[in-house]
Amino acid sequence: MKEAGVNWTEESLSLEEQALRSTLIESGRLPRHVAIIMDGNGRWAQERMRPRIEGHRVGMDSVRDAVKTCSQVGVKYLTLYAFSTENWKRPAAEVRFLMSLLETYLRKELEELHANDVRIRTVGKTNALPKNVQRVLEGAIQQTKDNRGLTLTLALSYGARQDITRAVQMIALDVRSGKMSPEDLTEQAIAERLQTAFMPDPDLVVRTSGEMRLSNFLLWEAAYAEIYVTEQLWPDFRRPDLYRALADFACRERRFGKTSAQLAADQPPSTDRSTLQRILDAIR
Ligand code: FPP
Repeated sequence: MKEAGVNWTEESLSLEEQALRSTLIESGRLPRHVAIIMDGNGRWAQERMRPRIEGHRVGMDSVRDAVKTCSQVGVKYLTLYAFSTENWKRPAAEVRFLMSLLETYLRKELEELHANDVRIRTVGKTNALPKNVQRVLEGAIQQTKDNRGLTLTLALSYGARQDITRAVQMIALDVRSGKMSPEDLTEQAIAERLQTAFMPDPDLVVRTSGEMRLSNFLLWEAAYAEIYVTEQLWPDFRRPDLYRALADFACRERRFGKTSAQLAADQPPSTDRSTLQRILDAIR
């Protein structure tokens, strides 16, 4: 049975936030899947002459904000790039701190996430994580597996190239054993062997701290994602900033290789920027 937790229903949104939510839903332009590269924690701390880990600590408040906001607004999938395969090269103390943050987050907030119907998943080489973190993660995944609200995927010890390589290896093994012929090697055959196969492709990839890179994040899946880069550092990226990213997404024309004229026939028109801007101004 679910414990009573802090309730995140849409009624707890301000009137302006509800207006933004309705406008996005009515326009059919709410992204189903938002993926975030949370960057700039170290710089945030350095700018304040504080140790880098302080940036990660405050960055956790931005994580809480993003999870709650996506859940309330009705985004169905949120994927957070929390630790890349390359992040293992960081100083051991920083890696330990990040792992302890993750463990504390799950231990302290699992009940609230569960009460709000959040389903927790991971992608990445999680068996490389410390055993205690693996145990907490497995418990969180198990407990929330039937939830139908937001799917929160933590990319941990994740690298897109490694995931693609693994998928191709699996195909090679199937071809060698005769289960598959080389002609069966389609895009779908690759996609369904990726760890991300349970989720739709991201519609919107957000990156903080102004860097214009994907940094080995969802390289296959983000083929048609809209990319939103903000100069803000992750610890400063809060609820209104996420709304701004969602509003920006709603104004984009996603052509998927077609012409604008062809699109008009099969897609709702992109939302009027000035309407959204008025709502955003009221939220700030
Ligand atoms: C990038 O900033 C941030 C990370 C490598 C870690 C992000 C992790 C968290 C916010 C906490 C754990 C997350 C969850 C979901 C429990 P950076 O250190 O690379 O910043 P810099 O580029 O300024 O040095």
